[in-house]
Amino acid sequence: MIKVLFVCLGNICRSPMAEMMFKDFVKKHGMQNKFHIESCATSYEEEGNGLHYGAIDILNRHNIHIDPHKAHRLQKSDYDKFDYLIGMEESNIYNIMRIIDEDPKHKVYRLLDFSNNPRDITDPWYTGNFVKTYDDLQEGLNAFLTSIISKIND
Ligand code: 4NP
Repeated sequence: MIKVLFVCLGNICRSPMAEMMFKDFVKKHGMQNKFHIESCATSYEEEGNGLHYGAIDILNRHNIHIDPHKAHRLQKSDYDKFDYLIGMEESNIYNIMRIIDEDPKHKVYRLLDFSNNPRDITDPWYTGNFVKTYDDLQEGLNAFLTSIISKIND
């Protein structure tokens, strides 16, 4: 079982979108039994809240199932529970490291660093553009899954 934790600042937009999209993605690849997928925040800003309505809307438009969700913050103990801690932007990586202290097993990555065009996922909290965030996530999740599959086949 490969355990993946997607991480953003509030856990109401980017990381739960990544969680629901990646669940859908691995299902379409017939790999759902190989993965355990969750998401969380680096802050307590949105603790207990559900997905942002803009995130719900774009996921609905793409027929992506949305599991019950409550925003919650990353805990230090999550480091041992997951194989990958995937941040959406550089500041997430900085905040993840403040919580977990160190990454001796190299589990922490920025999502689009798996792609050919490394950059931050666009933050829809500021842009209001959930379409762009969805497209960025598609690109990153695709590259991430390709990387995992090539590691499995090594
Ligand atoms: P997310 O978006 O990190 O993608 O869930 C945000 C949610 C809340 C805030 C910022 C970004 N906030 O400042 O409360």
